Amino acid sequence: MTGIIWGSTLGNTERAATIIAEQLGDSELIAVVNLDSETLEKYDTLLLGSSTWGFGDLQDDWDSKLNVLKEANLKGKRVGFFGMGDQYGYSDTYMDALGTLYEVIKDSGCSIIGSWPVAGYSFSASTAVIDGAFIGLALDDDNQPEQTEERITSWISSLTNK
Ligand SMILES: Cc1cc2nc3c(=O)[nH]c(=O)nc-3n(C[C@H](O)[C@H](O)[C@H](O)COP(=O)(O)O)c2cc1C
Repeated sequence: MTGIIWGSTLGNTERAATIIAEQLGDSELIAVVNLDSETLEKYDTLLLGSSTWGFGDLQDDWDSKLNVLKEANLKGKRVGFFGMGDQYGYSDTYMDALGTLYEVIKDSGCSIIGSWPVAGYSFSASTAVIDGAFIGLALDDDNQPEQTEERITSWISSLTNK
């Protein structure tokens, strides 16, 4: 069972999370405001979603829940990321929220799933790019809304084929 945890200010990441849940099946959606360690620990797979705000900041609701993520036992779990940002308007901090989430859990003993190619995007810098690929699914409803659903479909098939 997969837990899809999302934080969203204007509803874009929430909408993406809903599409992910529909396509994936066998999953539950959790607004990050409701996150606690018991919830986190009950899933074998976690998909963590955040938009990026300010200049490279996590979506607000994540801030107060980062400790829950830090303190949870994620050993042996599969963890993936999906994010929403504006690659043209915030070209130097595109998708940085995912870089922040990655830093928090990278040494937790979980395995990270679902990296995503940078081809098809135009931006200058992102902390979500590691070894030449996004650490998770990068979405951009401001500039490429027509691609969101197909990107989700292809990301999910890359997750489920492993
Ligand atoms: C004030 C403001 C700051 C933003 N800062 C960033 C940023 O640093 N990096 C980025 O990739 N997107 C940034 N964005 C774009 C949002 O992440 C984008 O609009 C996203 O779709 C919002 O998703 P949400 O509705 O799930 O919160 C910013 C948008 C606004 C209005």
